[in-house]
Amino acid sequence: MTPPRTKTDGDLSDSVDTLTAMSTPAPTATDTPAIEAIGLVKKFGDAVAVDDVSFSVPRGSVLGLLGPNGAGKTTTVRMMTTLTAPTSGTARIAGHDVVAEPHAVRRTMGLTGQAATVDELLTGRENLSMIGGLYGIRRRDLRRISDQLLEQFSLSDAADRPVKSYSGGMRRRIDLAVSLLTAPPVLFLDEPTTGLDPRSRSELWDVLRGLVAQGTTLLLTTQYLEEADQLADDIVVINKGKVIAQGSPLHLKEQAGKASLVLTVSHADDIPAAEALLRKTGGDVFVDTGARRLTAPADGLADMNRVIGWFTDSGIAVDDIGLSRPSLDDVFLSLTGHRAEPTTDAQQEVPA
Ligand SMILES: Nc1ncnc2c1ncn2[C@@H]1O[C@H](COP(=O)(O)OP(=O)(O)O)[C@@H](O)[C@H]1O
Ligand SMILES: [Mg+2]
Repeated sequence: MTPPRTKTDGDLSDSVDTLTAMSTPAPTATDTPAIEAIGLVKKFGDAVAVDDVSFSVPRGSVLGLLGPNGAGKTTTVRMMTTLTAPTSGTARIAGHDVVAEPHAVRRTMGLTGQAATVDELLTGRENLSMIGGLYGIRRRDLRRISDQLLEQFSLSDAADRPVKSYSGGMRRRIDLAVSLLTAPPVLFLDEPTTGLDPRSRSELWDVLRGLVAQGTTLLLTTQYLEEADQLADDIVVINKGKVIAQGSPLHLKEQAGKASLVLTVSHADDIPAAEALLRKTGGDVFVDTGARRLTAPADGLADMNRVIGWFTDSGIAVDDIGLSRPSLDDVFLSLTGHRAEPTTDAQQEVPA
């Protein structure tokens, strides 16, 4: 956030300390992780919605909690944000235990839930004022903070219009602005871009990147593999309540298989010669004659540079050459045996 905001509640001394500590980059080796999930379990009756989920999120980084509908993402976030008690296990937010110190946790984090929480009938600015008032932010601070947030989220022009007139993307932004009123160092976002059109989605990604650049730790849940790939430093994949994979987007993609080299020759006449050259890589070459495109397995940039060298020497004109890495969708397929298509409620597996 721009200038540091001051908490005004008299009784929040530990949270002021926390906020101060979090906003000052402290280059210590023993930094407490911003978020830790420790063996989180949630049962609803006999159904296990979250089954022993553990992970850790370093300060200032982004964790993508990725999984299809019904995987247990929202339930995990609800436990980590004190909205529901774990059946067993716990979580720590900036070192505070969600079970033992829920109040301290609430003062450290912000949450934007899956459903919009703003009041449709109020204007954007009125929503900020109302929630800011509940947080106990002083009136003159609130005006300044609201103006900053409205500006930051490109909502200044719409500030005095009722939220019911906002587009989907604007609603998500006002929702996010409201959860940032207290400048929380740790922010949870539950499917922040579900239902948004591609343009609003990429605008929101930019906003989120800005928050991370300013030092916010982000945990976002998503069903979009592309979204986790775009934003997350680390990804935890969950399915049916269990962690099924964990790692950087690159690591997960490498797990799903080799990259491939995709090359488009300028003249169809050159396809046989190009194919012969590519066979030197030792792998199977796939030729799409209509598109003048050839695909061969590659280990990475070193392989690609080698191939570029061969083509330069051969004089075969090439329109385009690139490395195509497996998508996170391929990762999900290789881990679960099915694509991570969002399921409808009817298709969703109901635990017995
Ligand atoms: N309050 C609840 N009572 C009973 N079952 C629930 C409740 N909330 C979630 N569930 C079940 O827990 C599982 C995980 O749900 P959820 O955490 O909402 O998944 P996701 O957010 O990944 O779509 C689902 O099978 C869902 O039906
Ligand atoms: Mg959910």
